[in-house]
Amino acid sequence: MKVELKDVSLSLRQDAQDVEILKGVSLAVRLGMIHALLGPSGSGKSTLLYAINRLRSIQHGEITLDGKDIRQINVFELRRRIGIVMQKPIFFPGTVEENILYGPRLWAKDNMTLIDPRHYLKLVQLDPDWVSRDPNTLSGGQQQRVSLARTLANNPEVLLLDEPTSALDGQASEHLETLIAGLCRERELTVIWVTHDVHQAERIAQDVTLLYRGRVMEQGLAKHFFAGPSTEEGRSYLTPSQKV
Ligand SMILES: Nc1ncnc2c1ncn2[C@@H]1O[C@H](COP(=O)(O)OP(=O)(O)OP(=O)(O)O)[C@@H](O)[C@H]1O
Ligand SMILES: [Mg+2]
Repeated sequence: MKVELKDVSLSLRQDAQDVEILKGVSLAVRLGMIHALLGPSGSGKSTLLYAINRLRSIQHGEITLDGKDIRQINVFELRRRIGIVMQKPIFFPGTVEENILYGPRLWAKDNMTLIDPRHYLKLVQLDPDWVSRDPNTLSGGQQQRVSLARTLANNPEVLLLDEPTSALDGQASEHLETLIAGLCRERELTVIWVTHDVHQAERIAQDVTLLYRGRVMEQGLAKHFFAGPSTEEGRSYLTPSQKV
């Protein structure tokens, strides 16, 4: 497995109390596949992605990358190998170009190997001339795409996407879906994709996990899940958007 969570529990502090947010979560993410992470708002999806990127520490269990505990991997190396596109992008001070080059500048041994930021803007269907813009002056959907461009520029092995198309129109969403699916096929990129759009999950994912209040409710092949969930929670999650 490319990424594996084994019996992971994670608590966060709320009002001077530790509240368990992830409760014994196990998850196996296959190399080169898109794994959709579904669940109601507040079920722990973003927290789970943060844990894989070591933006949050777990109290119990283990998370591995290529079989190795992520706590034994240098955190900067881990974040280069596992890229994250957050629900609300946060940019470094500076231009779009500086944001895209931030990672590659840290990793590149000499400047000759630096990537072309314009290429990454084109990849996400943005105007390559926007390299000199302040990303904070872009629209929400444009910011999402700059955030993805910046993450892709690090050439990650694993991509954690937190609702990456929530601010995009249908055409832009489908372009992004095609782009990511292509990277999975061509470069064996492995993806965990959080989405509230079940139709999107059905289009893109080979595997699905449904989280419910911090627990795994459903897990398995996407085609099985969408053909008929095995739990009441799974059925009620799918029902509102199912066409009769
Ligand atoms: N910094 C924090 N401190 C304490 N509790 C937190 C913190 N961040 C999130 N939580 C709590 O953890 C739970 C899971 O939050 P999380 O953001 O992972 O949910 P989510 O599934 O991503 O939801 P959404 O679909 O709305 O993005 C929520 O109950 C939330 O209130
Ligand atoms: Mg979230």
